[in-house]
Amino acid sequence: MAMQYDKISDAYSKAANQFVFKRVVECYTVLKVLGSVEGKSVLDVACGDGYYARLLRQRGAARVVGVDVSEQMIKAARERDAGAELGVEYRVHDAADLPVLGSFDRVTAAYLLNYASTREQMLRMCQGMFANLAPGGRLVAVLPNADFDPPGPSSVKYGIVMRPPEDRKEGGATTLDLLVDPPISIRFFYWSRSTHEQVLAEAGFGDIHWHPLECSPEPEHVEFWRDYLGNQHSIALSCRKPPLA
Ligand SMILES: C[S@@+](CC[C@H](N)C(=O)[O-])C[C@H]1O[C@@H](n2cnc3c(N)ncnc32)[C@H](O)[C@@H]1O
Repeated sequence: MAMQYDKISDAYSKAANQFVFKRVVECYTVLKVLGSVEGKSVLDVACGDGYYARLLRQRGAARVVGVDVSEQMIKAARERDAGAELGVEYRVHDAADLPVLGSFDRVTAAYLLNYASTREQMLRMCQGMFANLAPGGRLVAVLPNADFDPPGPSSVKYGIVMRPPEDRKEGGATTLDLLVDPPISIRFFYWSRSTHEQVLAEAGFGDIHWHPLECSPEPEHVEFWRDYLGNQHSIALSCRKPPLA
């Protein structure tokens, strides 16, 4: 499933950059949970077309490295950055086999762990991110919300159709449709909150918190996103590599 992005890189990149949800809800929450990145080093794992990598450099991060398993997504990221002289470094790596690229203050991973096909693979991803963090550094991730209620308030008006997992067991395959132009379907794996918490703890992380998505506080956004926020398809998570004793 990880390699599906080699086929949909252009469509995904276009969707991410035109999708109001990404800017007004997801990104708003990620930046709030991350706090200031001014002068910090950030590793963005599963960086896709560099959506967060670019943004974090623009917000003052001193060094940003973006990593993705898809060569086509990294190509799209380099093309989007062309001329902007942001100095983001992009590398092709499988997050389940991540070398140590530095001792980063922050790691971001928006929609990575849902591509782990096994618990073992998720553990290797978490261990790789842990190894790339400085002591006391934080990981901020975005994940499909395991508590999303398919019969609950519909997210169609927001351009999002999260299909119920075909089999609600850990690691079961599921599909998300993004109603953009052209529409895209993304396949990934369902994992419960407790599996994420156990695996992160096994990799060494502490201070694990879930952060329901919020929207930018302008009244028109608050009104429009009310139903979505009551049954959100994604959720943010933060955790910390323990500081040196
Ligand atoms: C939904 S996109 C998210 C991209 C970006 N984080 C964003 O929020 O716009 C998921 C990305 O995860 C990448 N990915 C999936 N499995 C991966 C793996 N094992 N290692 C690194 N990247 C992976 C895909 O290639 C794709 O670019």
